[in-house]
Formats: sequence, C-alpha cells, structure tokens
Amino acid sequence: MKVHINDVSMDFPQGTSVIDAIFAAGYDVPYFCSQEYMSPIGACRMCLARIGAPRKDRDGNWILDEETGEPKIFYFPNMMATCTTQVMEGMVVDTLSEDVKRVQNGMVEFTLINHPLDCPVCDKGGACELQDRAYEYGSGLSRFDFDKRHQEKHHPLSELITLDRERCIHCKRCVRYFEEVPGDSVLDFIERGGHTYIGTLDPGLPSNFTGNITDICPVGALLDTTSRFRGRNWEYEHTRSTAMDDASGSAIIVDGRTGRIERIKAALHPEVNKTWIDDGTRFGHEYVDAEDRLHAPMIRKDGELQAVTWEEAAATIRDRLSGLSGKDIGIAIRADATLEEGVAAKALAEALGTGQLDHAPRPAASVVPPQNPASLTDLATADAIVVFGDVTEEAPIVDLRIKDALKGVTPPELMQHGVPIADLRLKEHPVFHRARLTVAAPYRVDLMKHAGRALQYPAGGEAALLAALQAVAEAEGEPELDESQRAALGMSVQEATALVKGLREADKAVLVYGGFVLATREAASAAAAFGKAIDAKLMIVGPMADSYGLELLGVGPSHERYAYPAMLQDSRALILSNLDPAQDPDVRAQLEQKDFLVVHDLFLTETAQLADVVLPARSVYEKDGTVVNLEGRFLGVHAAPVDAGEAEDFIGVVGALGEALGQRLEGRSVRSARRVLRKRFELDPAELGATGQLYRPKGRTTSKVAVRSNEVVEGNVLVVPSMLRIEYLERNPHLSRLSGGARLRMHPQDANLHGVADGERVRLRVGGLLRRATVRVDGAVPPGLLLLPTLPEQPVGLVSADLATLVREESALEVAG
Ligand code: SF4
Ligand code: FES
Repeated sequence: MKVHINDVSMDFPQGTSVIDAIFAAGYDVPYFCSQEYMSPIGACRMCLARIGAPRKDRDGNWILDEETGEPKIFYFPNMMATCTTQVMEGMVVDTLSEDVKRVQNGMVEFTLINHPLDCPVCDKGGACELQDRAYEYGSGLSRFDFDKRHQEKHHPLSELITLDRERCIHCKRCVRYFEEVPGDSVLDFIERGGHTYIGTLDPGLPSNFTGNITDICPVGALLDTTSRFRGRNWEYEHTRSTAMDDASGSAIIVDGRTGRIERIKAALHPEVNKTWIDDGTRFGHEYVDAEDRLHAPMIRKDGELQAVTWEEAAATIRDRLSGLSGKDIGIAIRADATLEEGVAAKALAEALGTGQLDHAPRPAASVVPPQNPASLTDLATADAIVVFGDVTEEAPIVDLRIKDALKGVTPPELMQHGVPIADLRLKEHPVFHRARLTVAAPYRVDLMKHAGRALQYPAGGEAALLAALQAVAEAEGEPELDESQRAALGMSVQEATALVKGLREADKAVLVYGGFVLATREAASAAAAFGKAIDAKLMIVGPMADSYGLELLGVGPSHERYAYPAMLQDSRALILSNLDPAQDPDVRAQLEQKDFLVVHDLFLTETAQLADVVLPARSVYEKDGTVVNLEGRFLGVHAAPVDAGEAEDFIGVVGALGEALGQRLEGRSVRSARRVLRKRFELDPAELGATGQLYRPKGRTTSKVAVRSNEVVEGNVLVVPSMLRIEYLERNPHLSRLSGGARLRMHPQDANLHGVADGERVRLRVGGLLRRATVRVDGAVPPGLLLLPTLPEQPVGLVSADLATLVREESALEVAG
C-alpha cells in the first residue's frame, strides 16, 4: 500500500501500523504506551498525527479533487493515535505541521501534570522516555503552580522491584506485559482517573519474569531494587553479551560502573529472547562482587595457601606435573566454559599427553539433536508442542517462546527501524491456545498451567512413557500395548492415540526435552525415536550455557573410563576449572590422596581449599569468547569492564602454562583458539555479529565424546533444575531473601513423616552431598519424593538419599553441640 508520510512515499504491507510507517520513513513521533512485542492499545495519546486518506464513491471509483484531478484526501476530524491506526492505500500522514506540534506539546504537558520533577534523584534519569520526549516535544516552560498528586514513592512490589507510584504515567505497559508475555496476570490498575495506581493483590510478584517491567517502564516508576541509587545512566558502560545462565543464549546488556557490575538488562535478539530475560539471569549477578572472590594465584607452601604471581604458579604446576605420565593427569572444565576455553583445554590435554579431558555436568546422552533440530523460531511458530521436564527452570526463555506459539502470532518481520513498535496483530488479553501444548513431568511444573494436556509420570519413568508413546505412534490401526506400556502411559490408549494423531497432523510439531530425559540413554533414545515417529523437530535443553558447543567441539573423553567421575577417582593429578567436587565427602577423600591438585575458580571452594595451586577465575561476565545455545546458534560473549584483579579464564591458565612449558599452545589466546574454531566449524567466531549464527552442517553433528556411565533411575530425591542457581542464592542477598535459599519441596505427608514444617531450615545428605535447604510443603509434590534444586555441576535426575539424615538446622546444632 502506497503511503505518503510528510514528503516520503513508501509501500507497506496491509496491517502495518501508521506509527511503524512513520518510523520506517525516517520520521519520528513520540510515544509511551506502545512497546515492541506487545499489543498496541492507544492509551497515552502521545503518538498523535494528522492523517487523511482518499475515499471511493459508491461505484468504487476514487473521489477526485476538482482542482488537481487527483484522488481527494479526506482528513480525520481529530488527530489520530498512529499506533492503533493501520495504513490505507493513498494515506497521507503529517507529523511536522504546527497543528501536530501543538497537539504533541499539549500531550507532553498533560502527561507531566502529575509526574514529579525528581529527575535528579531518579534512576531512570538520562534513560527516561518522558524526559526525552519532554525535551524534544515539550514547550520548555511549566505552567503548573498547583500541588501535584502525591502517592507512595518506595513501594516494594517484590524483593526485586520497587514501584514509585507518583512517577507512573499509566501507560499500562507493565500490566499488558504480564498478561501477554509470561501469561501471569499479576499486576493491574486499581482505582480510577487521577487516583489510578498500579498494584497487585498477590504477595510479591508470583512470576519468573518480573524484571522485564523495569526495562519497559518508560519512566522511573518501576525500578530494579538491586541497582537502585547505584549510578546514573550516563555513568554506566554498556556491554552487549550473551547470558551464560542457561542454554538459551539470551542477549543481555551488562551495565558496569567503576569496575563493578551494577545491573543486567535484556538486549534485543529477535530470534532468541526478543527483549525478555528471566529473573535468574537479570538479578543473579551479585555473586561476582562477593568479598571472598579470589583475585590472585596461590600455591601451598608449608601447608598454607600463599599468594604468588601467575609465573610462579605456572612454574609450580609445570614442575609438579613433570614427574607424572600423561595418563595420570585429568582435566575438567565446567559446561559454561566458552568454545575458546574448550580449545585451550584440548590443547593442554594434548600437550600433557592425557585423554582424561571432560566437561561437567555432562548428561548421559547427547545434547545435540540426532535429527531435525528445532530453532527457537521453529518453537515459537509451532502448532503442536510436547515438553518433557521443567523447561521454565532449565531454560526460561524456552517457556516464553512456547507461549508465543500458544498465542499463534508469528514473529513480526523486521522493518527499516527494526522490530515493529505497534504490531496490530497482537491483542490485549490474548487467548493462549492451550490445546497446542502437552507437558509431561514427574511433578507439577509451572508450564502445566498453560498446557491443554498435563501428564504427571513417576520420577524416572521418562523412558517407559516415551517408549509407550512411540509404540502408539508406530502402531498401524489400534495400538496393542502390554500391561506395563499401558501403565507407563498414564492415560488411556485412546487419549494417547488422539495425542499422537494431533502431533502427526500438525504442520509443525516440536518435541522439547531436558535433563530428566537426558539422565538416561534409554530415555533419550526413546525421545529421539518418538520425535521421528511423529515427525517432530527436536529441541534438547542441555544443562549449561555451552553444553552444546563443548560437545560439538569434542571436549570430552573418547571412552567413559576417562570421564570426569572416573578421573576424580583414578587420576594422580587433576586440573579443575570452576568445579567443586569435594562437596561430596567420598570424593573429598579421593582428592586428599591426589599427588597434585590445581583448582581454577572464583572462590576458595571446598575443593580449592584442598588444592596445591589455586588460580583465580574470571566470571562469565568477564571473558570474551563464543558459546553455542540449545538451537545450535553460535553467539558471542563479551567481557564487561569489571575489575577482576588477576583473574583469568581457562585461556589465561593455558597461556601461562604453555609459557612455563615453553610451548605455544593452541588456545593460548582467544585469537589462537579462534583459528582452530574457524577450521573446525567453517565459520568465524570473530564475525558473528549481534545475533550470532545458526550452525546447521550437513550430516550428523554429534561428536565422538563418550556417554556418561553410572545412570541412576531410582531414588527418593529428585534433583530438579532451577533458574535460581545455587551461587546466586549463596552470594546474592536479594535473590536469597526472595526465595529463602534452596528449597526442599515435599508433600505434607512427607513433612509430617520427617517432622519438619514449611519454612524450616534443614540439612540432609543427598547423593553424598551435604545440602542445606528451606522446607516448602507443597501438596503438588508427589508423596514419597523430595525435590531439591541442582548444584551447578550436578545433572538433574533421581538420587538416593538417606532420609534419616534429614534434620532441622537447630536439631543439627543441638546434636553437634
Ligand atoms: S508503572 Fe511504568 S510501565 Fe507501569 S503503567 Fe506506570 S509508567 Fe507504565
Ligand atoms: S497512544 Fe500511546 S503510543 Fe499511541
């Protein structure tokens, strides 16, 4: 449709909003209530423009202007909200005339009637849409000589979000966000007219995605409590990077000031996280600034760890390893190491002549789909989705992209100015088509609220359920299932047949699974076979940010007898990066027997305390590199300007060791590691750009890394994923206050049985680890099963625990005393 915007004429597809046409034409209109990826509602009236269009007569002919002979333009009697008006053939839009300027000026003045002028102490100052618009479109003079509205200024909406009710301009972005994006309607307008305020009836904000409202609030009404009053916007250095909190690879902005990280905000990535991140990713960074962070290398002298230079530490490692044969040395890095660190680890293993190289946690099965991989856009546009597990906790953005699919609006095409500001296909109070979603998990997971079909199966029952579903999918005619298969289904054969039929008939079906399925090879094979039988694309949620990449790169042993658990037991010397296995007393006893132990970590962990050499590690915000997310997308990670002392990433470790050994190892620097990556993957990690690159090689992509042994399919404690990772809870005052620390969830019957009550602090020994947690009594947890969040290096799944060790902390102290 041809549209004339001021002096520019452009063609737009039907349904384009006028505000987007204006921006695409290179002009500007002020706006407050519209927001990318949310419904336009025309609430603020700030985007007004003068709009006219030609009309046709009854015979379908254009009514012509008598003077010019051209179609006559009929202007709307009032200025129109451009965000809720769609373009028409021949439309004329005026954003520059004096009339339009007068109206825009009036709307700025109207919006400021009740807005306090506390910009000098407002956290949004310098990044405030109202401040900018008042400067650009206001008159510069104030006619207000009356008292403005007074409302509560420091209202804690939750532990993480503070609301200043005086500053709210009633744009309704925050209310719409909760309804339309996570689908948790937890905020609303209360009262009317000038008395209207934002509020909630629920205690706190019961949603996993609350922090996004602080990004989209156009003024300083909704603020990130963790960074309040910590700096002015122009003082921050903004670093765009990739979140390393889970396998989704969400785009983030790390805001640093005076060498510290002050806050994390969501960055735009239209194909991954759009403009949203979860609360774990946003608020989980405080541990980086903990006082007990290691800043310098240490070596053990006379039984004590003493600070030394990197050169001394590297020389000590060289000397102590020189007496050992390669097969005695094990190297393990955590699964959120970058690809470049993976190259460095491989080069070091080669230089030392050891095949004992691994990353952890590494599940029992591959995290790279054996066939038909799904991208996040595939997921967001699917018309049938089956989820196994708790993806909301494992990779929260997957949860939001599933909700995109339930809304049934395909992602918008990018325009000249980027994402459309007002996508008229999006409606307020959207309908979520629940019938598209089936969620199966061993306990009630959050996503089940939005699912048309929720299947709760016994913990560890993934393989049996998937195999039974596969049998249904492969049956010709009426499926003939034996007794155990029928029991595993947890639904009637007719229901299962209907489910499979729906999946088969879908245009685009996606099967999503994570840690519970990956816990056993049998379940993972059954999932892949079921996916094939229903012709679904596969999305596998790996345990950490670079699980996919490290597997592709082959950072792992060629045989399971060289894998991480085996090397903890068998090797004589170990080099561990960001892993803390000594929390398990049995492993601790093994580590105490090692000839030599090197630990590279952020903190003096239990394992580091046993080490002969401790090397300070950079956090995930302090390194440069590349990761591969769960859809197989290569994404850049960029270091924020943070004062990390002498801390180094694993590349730094290998660089220092290479120098000590007199060898120029591949992976001694990001540049040298990237030379290896370029050859291996035929793409250039230095040239990925902001949105990265999907990696889709021809043929199979799985590496030759051996599968993990010691699969566990029985137990009384289920280790579950959690977006609030344990390091956030231990060294993050805000998140730990919000959640009460790690939660041990149990059915009321079990609470009675163990003599504990909701909110009590307890400790228990789980799979060898002594864990502390807060009891949460929850009728939705299956009786006889305790749910405990995972530790960073621990795969999710069943664990056997001696429940006699479950004691209240006070009782534990009494016993100890
Ligand atoms: S709190 Fe902010 S986002 Fe919510 S309605 Fe008010 S101004 Fe808009
Ligand atoms: S009315 Fe608010 S942006 Fe159009």
